[in-house]
Amino acid sequence: MSSKVFADQVVVVTGGGTGIGRAAALAFAEQGAASVIITGRRAEPLAQAAAEHPALVPVVADVTRPEGAEAVAAAVAERGGQLDVLVHNAGVFAEIPLDDLNADEVRRQLEINVVGPVLLTGRLLPLFTSPGASVVVVSSISSRLAAPGHSVYAASKAAVDSLIRSWAVELAPKGIRVNGVAPGNVETDILGVGGVTPDRISEWREGYAATVPAGRIGGVADITSWITRLAEPASSWVTGEIITVDGGRLLV
Ligand SMILES: NC(=O)c1ccc[n+]([C@@H]2O[C@H](COP(=O)([O-])OP(=O)(O)OC[C@H]3O[C@@H](n4cnc5c(N)ncnc54)[C@H](OP(=O)(O)O)[C@@H]3O)[C@@H](O)[C@H]2O)c1
Repeated sequence: MSSKVFADQVVVVTGGGTGIGRAAALAFAEQGAASVIITGRRAEPLAQAAAEHPALVPVVADVTRPEGAEAVAAAVAERGGQLDVLVHNAGVFAEIPLDDLNADEVRRQLEINVVGPVLLTGRLLPLFTSPGASVVVVSSISSRLAAPGHSVYAASKAAVDSLIRSWAVELAPKGIRVNGVAPGNVETDILGVGGVTPDRISEWREGYAATVPAGRIGGVADITSWITRLAEPASSWVTGEIITVDGGRLLV
């Protein structure tokens, strides 16, 4: 496959200032995308990411707010108005046992992980005029496992899996493919952002790596290669698929 597989394309990556999203945005840019619009609530990580490649366009936008979706649509319009690839990557994790959960926290996680992709996909649909347009959603293997202590996160990702399947069929007549990547544990800031202490993160990752047949937790490149693979034209007969990328963790 040519390294310029996304030549002239406009790509949106939510949560593109950090972690998996930042690495995915760079991968699209390195493979020729004309513009990769990266979003998030904080300007600073977006600006730092954008400094890494001239095709990266930082847009401060909260996925839970309709005005966030408007800002992304405006950025696509400024770049010709045709959207080729939308990656729903923004997400939050929190480890909170059931007896400490409250309604606001449940709503917060569902708003970001589920309401966000629904709002943004709906707003950007008219811009998906490109033949071979595609949506890739970052789910999690938590959607398919018992997740004691992070049940709401797992439920949010189960909802995401359901959206992927429904949208794949609903949007197929418009020529839009919809797929997902379900990572196992990947080295990013997500646990720290979710309030997990550094000691607990080290303990968790060591224990987790020991349960992964491949013997390690993931790196961001393990995930981004599948995000771009699902979005590229060579995958034009793949839709409604959720690729598990977890070193075999789900098998044991
Ligand atoms: N790392 C893992 O082990 C793992 C495993 C399975 C799945 N995932 C999934 O991978 C995705 C990326 O996570 P990551 O590991 O790369 O963690 P991360 O570095 O914490 O990335 C999360 C990104 O989402 C953005 N975000 C959060 N709330 C947002 C909102 N309301 N509006 C817009 N952007 C928002 C954050 O930016 P701001 O804070 O600036 O808004 C941040 O850039 C998530 O969907 C996560 O559930 C991760």
